[in-house]
Amino acid sequence: MGEVNLVDVSKSFAVKVGGKVQSVRALDRINFTVHDREIVALTGPSGCGKTTALRIVMGLEAASSGRVMIGSREISGCGYDRGIVFQHAELLPWLTALQNVMFGLEMKGMRGGELRDSAESYLDLVGLKDSANRRPHQLSGGMKQRVGIARALAIDPEVLLMDEPFGALDAQTREGLQSELLRIHQRTGKTILFVTHDIDEAVLLADRVVVMRSGTVQEITEVKLGELRNDPGELRGTKEFAEIRHTLWHALHGRSTTRH
Ligand SMILES: Nc1ncnc2c1ncn2[C@@H]1O[C@H](COP(=O)(O)OP(=O)(O)O)[C@@H](O)[C@H]1O
Ligand SMILES: [Mg+2]
Repeated sequence: MGEVNLVDVSKSFAVKVGGKVQSVRALDRINFTVHDREIVALTGPSGCGKTTALRIVMGLEAASSGRVMIGSREISGCGYDRGIVFQHAELLPWLTALQNVMFGLEMKGMRGGELRDSAESYLDLVGLKDSANRRPHQLSGGMKQRVGIARALAIDPEVLLMDEPFGALDAQTREGLQSELLRIHQRTGKTILFVTHDIDEAVLLADRVVVMRSGTVQEITEVKLGELRNDPGELRGTKEFAEIRHTLWHALHGRSTTRH
């Protein structure tokens, strides 16, 4: 089961200021769940702790207290149950797109024909079958991100974790990849937790949006768009989209639309 559960997760960093070591509290008892097959967006102002929370779920950072569960297992460090995508794909420049995808699978112990077939099928899934033999410098920013997504999915993780995956792309490429991610989600049924500071992106992609502020969870908003989501181009113009966007905007800016 690809359910992610953060239970009372806190994180403090030791920071040296003027020769003295100070403790900076980045997360203060965070709790939220990403259900199996759900897409959850983590959003909030810069510095509120989004990346820290995600890096703890990735296993790249240890929590100071609290725990993260994937299904019934408590995590300690990274694992093949979680696929990771960053803002910049950070592909190995001397390997082709296909070899970059194969790399993770080799690490996992896959070899031979199965390895190649599997990597090819994931490149196909992200629409890059014809660019398999290109090296990273021959790929556009959007294509590199697609390879990064293929690489993360190829290890067949239970959960896909993404930190501002489309944040460095131009608006048009970003829209293309957003639609692509929804399609990939429909095909693979992966549980997805992603960080974004873009409210529209959160509404377009997520089933629920976790709004953070100053290291705490401020609000969790459900995005009920149903069938409307099948046509992202049209969705942006609907009143339902505007309403959810409005609710989130107020949550982000510390105002409630329901309480006064
Ligand atoms: N490695 C680190 N050392 C010290 N402070 C850090 C470190 N990583 C993050 N922080 C601090 O933790 C807070 C949250 O940062 P971050 O999670 O990167 O926020 P966000 O992703 O929401 O912009 C910030 O105050 C940041 O300066
Ligand atoms: Mg961040």
